[in-house]
Amino acid sequence: MTFPAHRGRRLRRHEGLRSLARETRVAADQLVAPLFVHAAERDRVPIAALAGQARLSPEAAAAEAQALASLGVGSVILFGIPARKDAEGSGAWASDGPVPRAIRLIKKRAPELVVWADVCLCEYTDHGHCGILRAGEVDDVDNDATLPLLARAAVAYAEAGADVVAPSDMMDGRVAAIRSALDQAGHTATAIVSYAVKYASAFYGPFRQAAGSTPAHGDRRGYQMDVANVREAVSEACADVEEGADALIVKPGTPCLDVLRAVREAVRVPVASYQVSGEYAMLQDAAEKGHLDLERAMWETALGMRRAGADLLITYFARALAERLIESRRAAESAR
Ligand code: PBG
Repeated sequence: MTFPAHRGRRLRRHEGLRSLARETRVAADQLVAPLFVHAAERDRVPIAALAGQARLSPEAAAAEAQALASLGVGSVILFGIPARKDAEGSGAWASDGPVPRAIRLIKKRAPELVVWADVCLCEYTDHGHCGILRAGEVDDVDNDATLPLLARAAVAYAEAGADVVAPSDMMDGRVAAIRSALDQAGHTATAIVSYAVKYASAFYGPFRQAAGSTPAHGDRRGYQMDVANVREAVSEACADVEEGADALIVKPGTPCLDVLRAVREAVRVPVASYQVSGEYAMLQDAAEKGHLDLERAMWETALGMRRAGADLLITYFARALAERLIESRRAAESAR
């Protein structure tokens, strides 16, 4: 049907009509809020590169998690910043590290909130790589020797009460290694949401400042994916499902909408899109300069990821999105 019988504008005329025709929505219970937990005593240390985000003590992280839960946010994902780093990243599996401490507190204060723990060594190694290095090398990560260490970290977080462990290291075979270690330790119910598709992206810059995890030598292109590839993304996704992943993450978010779509069509498990630190900082900074409306850019990017096929959104905007969802529900109710 074409004009004049078809008039696309009929369903755009006012918000009620736009709302009835809306194909995708954002739901608070499918939002995942990233939280940085440090070992220091200071409650909140603002992260300069990420407006509105801070490094939190385990106590402050629990308070923040409770506030997020009361706004309806479904999950938090925790990143640890240890007091000390070493060559093998042993802080990653310390049972009294900032992440296990935060998990225990959050599970007490907000039992209904789904707690994810990011599993990687880069925040814990003194060289900043995501695994241990081959003897005598400065940037060559030993895949198979790293697997048991990642598994050890995952078990420590499960032990503390994490619902989900999310390996972000990009070592081959880590989902299978983590699954078998969890099962052997009796944590058969702990879910694995793997960063199956993680590109060697420029957009992780602010995160690395926040976590102090910039590699001392070299870069992560020897293990994170080449940004030019999408067929490879599908095969990584399928491999992780076969190894036992319960859900997958595609990262970064808005630069990879085509990848999200391809992965969504290739697997049946839930797929999350991660709008990473650089994407968030870019929007914050442009808004700060008056170049764009932050509120609208936040919704447009969230809906873009949903439209491309993301079931879940991991985003530093989680709290703001959930607050707006509540406000608009209230506004709609009082208009009735
Ligand atoms: C740890 C990890 C990183 C991010 C999530 N998990 C950093 C990296 O790989 O360098 C990035 C998240 C963000 O930029 O918001 N490996």
